[in-house]
Amino acid sequence: MSFRLQPTPPARPNRCQLFGPGSNTKLFAKMAASGADVINLDLEDSVAPSDKDQARINVIEAINTIDWGTKTLAVRINSLDTPYWYRDVVDLLEQAGPRLDQIMIPKVGCAEDIYAVDALVTAIERAKGRIKPVAFEVIIESAAGLAHVEAIAAASPRLQAMSLGAADFAASMGMQTTGIGGTQENYYMLQGETRHYADPWHWAQTAIVAACRTHGILPVDGPFGDFSDDEGYRAQARRCATLGMVGKWAIHPKQIALANEVFTPSEAAVAEAREILAAMETAKAQGAGATVYKGRLVDIASIKQAEVIVAQSDLIAGA
Ligand code: COA
Ligand code: MG
Repeated sequence: MSFRLQPTPPARPNRCQLFGPGSNTKLFAKMAASGADVINLDLEDSVAPSDKDQARINVIEAINTIDWGTKTLAVRINSLDTPYWYRDVVDLLEQAGPRLDQIMIPKVGCAEDIYAVDALVTAIERAKGRIKPVAFEVIIESAAGLAHVEAIAAASPRLQAMSLGAADFAASMGMQTTGIGGTQENYYMLQGETRHYADPWHWAQTAIVAACRTHGILPVDGPFGDFSDDEGYRAQARRCATLGMVGKWAIHPKQIALANEVFTPSEAAVAEAREILAAMETAKAQGAGATVYKGRLVDIASIKQAEVIVAQSDLIAGA
């Protein structure tokens, strides 16, 4: 480890972030009753321009009146290239009560985007005497966002989570796809006649995970658009979990159980992690730094890997 230690990310379950348009008030109570760890009420791209003002009013009322239980409650504001975002921040910070946990800033392109929102939020919190600081989460969904991902991750102590937004990212990059995440028809290697499909989102995800882990932020995968394709969702979520992401969005309630299933370490995985820790305790007692577990090498790095799984499981069990 570097002299500068890797910070610990916020200790909260973040397996599934459920989205719903701020203009669709009928969904709010269902979202609150769902199994998602995080709720994202949307003021941005699922709300038509003519509905922006009403959606803001709806969302503030929902924050103040609905019982959201122990969920992390977030609102996605409009991006900084629109005329809407400042009013989103001002009205939320002035009118939503302390139940508001987090603001999601979409289409972030540079650290200064975070700085601007932070300055505005901080001024309103002071003016209004808000006690609980509002946290931030961001979406990386542009070429600039990914190019500056590390500076963005370092931009504010308010920052707790960062998601990849596949659709806007693909558009910004000029990628030839209209799919939102998942396997892409033309992204394959040939071995003889056989096509092997690779993952075009992989490099963006790993860049996000590295930036997040460097700065103690939760890395999350964004939407999977085809909500009739459970296996496609599962496959993408499993790849993300393998890469170090802690959760994934749901844009339809049927995706919640899938995310919770993938991002909750299985009983078998937790049992194996505990066995590895026990094997290493025995090895250490005998003065050894490495030992054999089920025919394979385990060493001091294995302790850290096993601890990740046990810590994730304990966190979720306490949720
Ligand atoms: N949260 C909670 N409940 C939801 C929901 C959501 N996001 N989306 C749908 N439901 C409910 C419906 O109200 C319906 O409930 P009912 O059985 O009591 O009638 C049930 O789940 C089944 O819904 P379904 O008919 O399959 O979907 P739909 O046609 O009503 O809605 C979408 C489909 C995609 C328009 C809707 O799911 C949605 O708005 N998703 C979120 C979009 C979003 O926020 N995008 C921004 C981030 S990318
Ligand atoms: Mg987007």
